[in-house]
Amino acid sequence: MRILSGIQASGSLHLGNYLGALKKFTDMQALDAERFYMIADLHAITVWQDPANLLSQTREIAACYLAAGVTPEQSVIFAQSSVPEHTELGWLFNCVARLGWLDRMTQFKDKAGKDKERASIGLYTYPVLQAADILLYKATHVPVGEDQRQHLELTRDVAKKFNHDYKTDYFPLPETLYQGPGARIMSLRDGLAKMSKSDPSDNSRINLTDTADTIASKIKKAKSDAEVLPEAPEGLDDRPEAKNLVGIYAALAGVSVQDVLNDFGGKGFGAFKPALADVVVDKMSPVSERLRGLLNEPTEIDRVLKIGAEKARAAAAPVVQDVKKIIGLWG
Ligand code: TYM
Repeated sequence: MRILSGIQASGSLHLGNYLGALKKFTDMQALDAERFYMIADLHAITVWQDPANLLSQTREIAACYLAAGVTPEQSVIFAQSSVPEHTELGWLFNCVARLGWLDRMTQFKDKAGKDKERASIGLYTYPVLQAADILLYKATHVPVGEDQRQHLELTRDVAKKFNHDYKTDYFPLPETLYQGPGARIMSLRDGLAKMSKSDPSDNSRINLTDTADTIASKIKKAKSDAEVLPEAPEGLDDRPEAKNLVGIYAALAGVSVQDVLNDFGGKGFGAFKPALADVVVDKMSPVSERLRGLLNEPTEIDRVLKIGAEKARAAAAPVVQDVKKIIGLWG
């Protein structure tokens, strides 16, 4: 089993990133597997990043990994740009992936908006680089949030087409791990919008850097509805805000949605919200505290990233060599 995942080096992380990705990264350290967790700085520059901030953003994501409990002893933590093989395999895959596949990517449409003529070409071919990130390590499992599902399908398509065209079974078809109530955390202000770094309202999300008081106040202000919680999960189907808050509780407490409803079914948000605030503060405060400490230790972060870069390159270089040979490239 080989695990790979990554988080973009763009802005601070929130509870969605924690539950969709970081928590799974740490949980997976209990498995007998090799783990590669990268900071996707090459993906971040598909939209403008101020050079004065990019390095600190990269270090901040690395600090989030460590604060969440990912350790350099159990996992390879590295910056994508420190392993040039990502871009090399990315190019080779540009010649495997088809335009029609990229035209279907909803994330490009969302991010490029109406003015797609002015979007970078990198933003368009982004999923091809992501396929390279994963297949470069011949990863078999990729823990991500639900929003990455389409990119993971494209990764499998690239692996399939490469294997088919070159009559090989070189690349495994990686499995996407996005199950569970944490896979799609919604905004605290709107149960139909994803919790996101780019939402202008800070009250829409819980940041990894938020203090206990801020967390409690954001949960208190979170949009809910006037009904009591149902006894069974189906009762949440047309209640996006209630469904999201119950899902957050379940994902953080490590229980099922039904378990939460066994305790809170028939009770209103007056009773549920304080209990939810307690769970969020209880689980997230230690992470935020560690994060605040680590942000003052850039030298330690750089040390971790340097070790990670060496290990990642050692795993990646032979794969690119193999692929070049399969394709018939000189050298
Ligand atoms: P990024 O940086 O947008 O998000 C990082 C991870 O957080 C998850 N996530 C969420 N999960 C649940 N609820 C939410 N509201 C939420 N918002 C974000 C994302 O699904 C993701 O797992 N393209 C990727 C980075 C990447 C990558 C890779 C991932 C580059 N190469 C290779 C896996 C494998 C991205 O932009 O994630």
